[in-house]
Amino acid sequence: MKVLSGSLKEQLILWLMIPILMLGFLQGCVAYYLGTNFANNSFDESLGDIASALSSQLKIKGQNVKINLSPSAKSILEYDDDDKIFYQVLGLQGQFLDGDPRFPKLKSLTDLKGPDYQNGRLDHQKVRIVSMESAIPGVIPLRNVIVQVAKSATDRVELSHSILMSVVIPQFLLVLFSWFIIWFGVIRGLSPLEKLCTAVRNRTPRNLAPINPIEAPREVLPLVHAINDLLGRVEADLNIHRRFVANSAHQLKTPLAGLQAQAEFALKQTQPEDIQQALSQVHISAQRAGRLVEQLLSLARSEQDEHHLFTQKFVDLNQIVRNVMIEHVPHALQKKIDLIFEENDSSEISVLGDQTSLYELTSNLMDNALRYTQNGGQVVVRIGKETGRVVLTVSDNGPGIPLEKRDHVFERFYRVLGNATEGSGLGLAIVREIARAHHAEIEMCEGLDNQGISIRVTFPVA
Ligand SMILES: Nc1ncnc2c1ncn2[C@@H]1O[C@H](COP(=O)(O)OP(=O)(O)OP(=O)(O)O)[C@@H](O)[C@H]1O
Ligand SMILES: [Mg+2]
Repeated sequence: MKVLSGSLKEQLILWLMIPILMLGFLQGCVAYYLGTNFANNSFDESLGDIASALSSQLKIKGQNVKINLSPSAKSILEYDDDDKIFYQVLGLQGQFLDGDPRFPKLKSLTDLKGPDYQNGRLDHQKVRIVSMESAIPGVIPLRNVIVQVAKSATDRVELSHSILMSVVIPQFLLVLFSWFIIWFGVIRGLSPLEKLCTAVRNRTPRNLAPINPIEAPREVLPLVHAINDLLGRVEADLNIHRRFVANSAHQLKTPLAGLQAQAEFALKQTQPEDIQQALSQVHISAQRAGRLVEQLLSLARSEQDEHHLFTQKFVDLNQIVRNVMIEHVPHALQKKIDLIFEENDSSEISVLGDQTSLYELTSNLMDNALRYTQNGGQVVVRIGKETGRVVLTVSDNGPGIPLEKRDHVFERFYRVLGNATEGSGLGLAIVREIARAHHAEIEMCEGLDNQGISIRVTFPVA
């Protein structure tokens, strides 16, 4: 059952109060039943005593049986203002002999073994009636009659009410008190959670320190560890972003400063050939700055994969690679590199993903292969299928990447020292982000002719 699922405090108080209220009610009923039973018994007993006392006053006057009451006995009977006492004497067959004739007719009065108690109505009020068989004292042979005494139940009702009040009021106070104790206990018991809540609320992007698990209750320790784990990851991610922004700013500053210096130099030139040469330098620097900005944007875009910004649809990888090759042919020709595309046999090889970013991934891998492979080298691009998964491989016979550097080359702005080629160290970082967005795996292994490098991107089964 789902009740007040919003508040743990309310749920605890509710589920503790329901049984307490039920117990209180049950206890009240039992106490009331036992109390009234006890009061009724003592009421009946006193009624029986009166009937016995009246029996002892039975007399025979001629043929009539009478109860001969002394004035003091009469006053005792009328003593109670609220409760009236009535009596009558009947023969064993039920015929009226003496007393108050208004008594109601009662069933089963023959064969009375002891006092018989019944409820009835007399004089427009509820009465309790005792019937008792007695022998008329001093008469031989024995003559038995039935003596009946009735008493109005006002006292009994009052007693029941006072029993009820004496049970209900303490019970009500007890429930009220238990509610207060439970409320206090729950508030106290949940206070560590409040503290935990404040600790989490106090965390900001500038303060992602882990929450102290010592202060947390044992039951919520897994939650605290999970929060700390999350805080750690968020902090690591934030640090990466901060570093990225700082590095980007630094990387952009260099080509822009170069551009400025070259433009100033060009402005100072007077000869058309010098101006031409200086402007071509400005052009190269502007191209470099433009590529860097493009790479930074592409990296920022591919990082958003969690928000599914890429339009995922089936795209033909064969076609993408063919287009990238066309773009890089001039570069390959310039370096006399043998650029080969080992296309997959099937005319179309489908990958679920984003056309533009897959183009960018392939282009970065091909750009690296062409850029770092020596003149006259070889670059092979291959599309294959392994256990139903599409595999794109770009291999070369260039200088390769030392084993210990292979993990680092995917970091942003990381470049292997000693290569004379220009670059900003973002190409493989972009490749990694795009592969991640497509749930693809990247591996590095030996390139062509046991030299160079081969980078494999394995796409998931679509
Ligand atoms: N095919 C390759 N052969 C040899 N070294 C490579 C190859 N591909 C990448 N590298 C090394 O890995 C480093 C990182 O490559 P990455 O593409 O990330 O950056 P980059 O090529 O230096 O710059 P850019 O951002 O312009 O691509 C490169 O500096 C290079 O040293
Ligand atoms: Mg590169």
